Amino acid sequence: MAVLTSGGDAPGMNAAVRCFVMATAAAGGVVYGVRRGYEGLLDDDMVELGLADVDGISRHGGTLLGSARSALFPTEAGQEAATEVLAARGIEGLCVIGGNGSLTGAHRLGDRVDFPIVGVPASIDNDVGFTRLSIGVDTAVNTIVEACDRISDTARAHRRAFVVEVMGRYCGYLAMRAGVAADADAILFAEREQPESQMFEELEALLTRSFSRERGKKRVLIVMSEGLPTGSGELVRRLQAHLDAAAPGVGIRRTILGHVVRGGSPSALDRMLAQRLANQAARALLDGKRDVMCAWEPPIDVGTATEDPSVRLLPLDAVLTETAAMLDVTSIATRRRVALVNQATALLGM
Ligand code: F6P
Repeated sequence: MAVLTSGGDAPGMNAAVRCFVMATAAAGGVVYGVRRGYEGLLDDDMVELGLADVDGISRHGGTLLGSARSALFPTEAGQEAATEVLAARGIEGLCVIGGNGSLTGAHRLGDRVDFPIVGVPASIDNDVGFTRLSIGVDTAVNTIVEACDRISDTARAHRRAFVVEVMGRYCGYLAMRAGVAADADAILFAEREQPESQMFEELEALLTRSFSRERGKKRVLIVMSEGLPTGSGELVRRLQAHLDAAAPGVGIRRTILGHVVRGGSPSALDRMLAQRLANQAARALLDGKRDVMCAWEPPIDVGTATEDPSVRLLPLDAVLTETAAMLDVTSIATRRRVALVNQATALLGM
């Protein structure tokens, strides 16, 4: 078997690799770890992984196998080259640990090779269809909450507003979850599909109300997803202009958390999730299941049950269709996320 981690790294990837190696070895299989994702696969850059190699690695953030975003792999030539490398190595099953792009690559490769491929969702963005959580999301949310708490301390000391921009690409999940947990006064993400003028009206009213003598708030925290069409620089510039008129002396600052959110030791939840998904991935490969992904507690009852009550096997095709629907806000899962955060934020900023 071969295992690779691909795309943006996510805390918990190492725990998934460890468990995949252990479960495969327990069934008498041999695992090759592919270095640097699909780039490494094209270069035939792989190493045999034994139990000693993966012992105690779950606590490390990032991915010890390395990762990459390969431009060549999705092309016809790349797919052909990867197929040849895998055949020459005698690989009989491939486990791909990664997000949206990596799973798309796995699905395409599955059409060409004559052995099973199984995906394990790992991406801090939580934008993979039919899995309630992807590996890395919980750690990223906790990192954002801790950062927001620290920012709230200094904001309160100076009676300031802060805009905190977080990763997530086109998916607002990290901003939604972390914003609610950090007592944000407003949470901004693209999936709300709110006209920009209305968004500014609401934010200006929030700032006026919050810093009024009657309300007397000491800090205003605005958490925004990087996928919001309005950039954080523009947001801060316009809101500062409003504050200058409505609450002279009150400042607004911006913090972009960026890649800080992607690193760090994985939470206990991410390690557990990674181990249980990877364990079922190894079993699925050994059972010859093709072109599937292990999903964590799908939000609707789809796919095939595994021995783990929380893990189900979904065809990669269906996963990728649902992923696209989540991002264009036609999926029920996204609408539910938005409705839930709207309920929570209705009470915020009062
Ligand atoms: O997909 C994970 C992610 O961290 C996104 O949230 C972010 O937009 C992107 O990767 C950043 O990619 P890179 O590390 O290549 O700059």
